[in-house]
Amino acid sequence: MLTGIFDSHAHYDDARFNEDRDELLLSMKKNGVDNIMNIGVDIQTSENSIKLAEQYDFMYCSVGVHPWVANDIPDNFTENIREMAKNKKVKAIGEIGLDYHYEDYSAEKQQEIFRKQLILAQELNLPVIIHNRDAHSDTMNILKQHNVKGVVHCFSGSAEMAKELVKMGFYIGFTGVITFKNARRAVEAVNVIPLDRLLVETDCPYMAPEPNRGKRCDSTMLPYIITKMAEIKNISPEEMTKISAENTRKIFNI
Ligand code: NI
Repeated sequence: MLTGIFDSHAHYDDARFNEDRDELLLSMKKNGVDNIMNIGVDIQTSENSIKLAEQYDFMYCSVGVHPWVANDIPDNFTENIREMAKNKKVKAIGEIGLDYHYEDYSAEKQQEIFRKQLILAQELNLPVIIHNRDAHSDTMNILKQHNVKGVVHCFSGSAEMAKELVKMGFYIGFTGVITFKNARRAVEAVNVIPLDRLLVETDCPYMAPEPNRGKRCDSTMLPYIITKMAEIKNISPEEMTKISAENTRKIFNI
């Protein structure tokens, strides 16, 4: 059994964990999961992430506003984030970024709230957690205009983009997608990313790895993701676990 796993991206405040959240989180250690970063996507989930991180000493969290809430965010939202970021369990600003997959969310508004949070992260000297879907070139252009470090999570870009991000000092996270049959692009990206920049994550309750694809995901499924990544990098799953946990601690200053 793998031990010392660090899930760098989870959403345990999600309603899909309402039935068994505490039971599940209390079982993490015996399933080899030592630490978890819980990620905010709006003001409410950021507050909930802080509550979880305060309740469980092995959990840390991020606060931030996801592009999908761009339409209904109050003008002064950065003040809320700045206030929440004072909590010692808050280790990053995120998840923030761009998502052009659905047309309901104005690209312009998304870019505006993304930039505001990058500036805030810079000011607070905190790493960022980037969400990017179908918005590769705008994401890269905006990141290049800010002096920030962090993680691009659930990476969906090309190997070329991965190389560029590594050059810019970024870490890159992979979810259960890496275990899917059609994951050729993600496999190519893992191939070119140096070991000291790779993170493992569930993005639970989403993105359950094979053989659990489609089910509710949780951090105990990380060994499937780690084993697949270890295979691509030609190292042991134990080494992959250790290196990815070290990388996560390093980027989030834990
Ligand atoms: Ni997420």
